Amino acid sequence: MTILQIRTVPDPILRRKSRKIREVDDAIRELAHDMVATMYEAGGVGLAAPQVGELKRLIVLQLPEEKEARILINPEITRRDGEREVEEGCLSVPGYLGTIMRSERVKARAISESGAKLRLAADQIFAQALEHEVDHLDGILYLDHLKSHEDLVDLSKLEEAEHQHDFEVEVEDEGLMKSRGEKRVLIAGDLTDGVADIKDEKILEATEKDLEQLSEG
Ligand code: NI
Repeated sequence: MTILQIRTVPDPILRRKSRKIREVDDAIRELAHDMVATMYEAGGVGLAAPQVGELKRLIVLQLPEEKEARILINPEITRRDGEREVEEGCLSVPGYLGTIMRSERVKARAISESGAKLRLAADQIFAQALEHEVDHLDGILYLDHLKSHEDLVDLSKLEEAEHQHDFEVEVEDEGLMKSRGEKRVLIAGDLTDGVADIKDEKILEATEKDLEQLSEG
């Protein structure tokens, strides 16, 4: 298996629409397995083919609590319910986190690597990761869902920037964390796996310039 190079903004391939996969053959399976290896190597929870330079509708996902990666070919979200605020990062946008709205629950269909039809019902992190990765197939980045530049965080500007590198994989009870004034941060897209606590949101501010730079391309 090969570790592939992950494209980052402003690489224009991240803005293009991926093509449907007509036939699930060995080349697709090999790409999928290389993407899984690349996702592991990067410590991510998901990766979409355009992020490794392939405009094909193929994503891989592995949530923190799961033992095996999922390979989803031609994934389509067929239903979205509810809305929730989440924090999100992306391996193609290194060093940043954003606060955006995602669905609470989604339903999706896809094809497995053996060509079987799959139907999925997802909530929480799984729903978020699915929406994030399917967005990549349409050239959409989480940056497009930001409502304001204040919703984007430059991690290098965090006072405790060092601390942000040890993400906790354990998912704590969200209610309990709220009562302690902590916030759950999901590094969903693909960045590091898991969850970090950020106690002081006041330091989580990025400049307008950061956002402009990121939105280019
Ligand atoms: Ni991403």
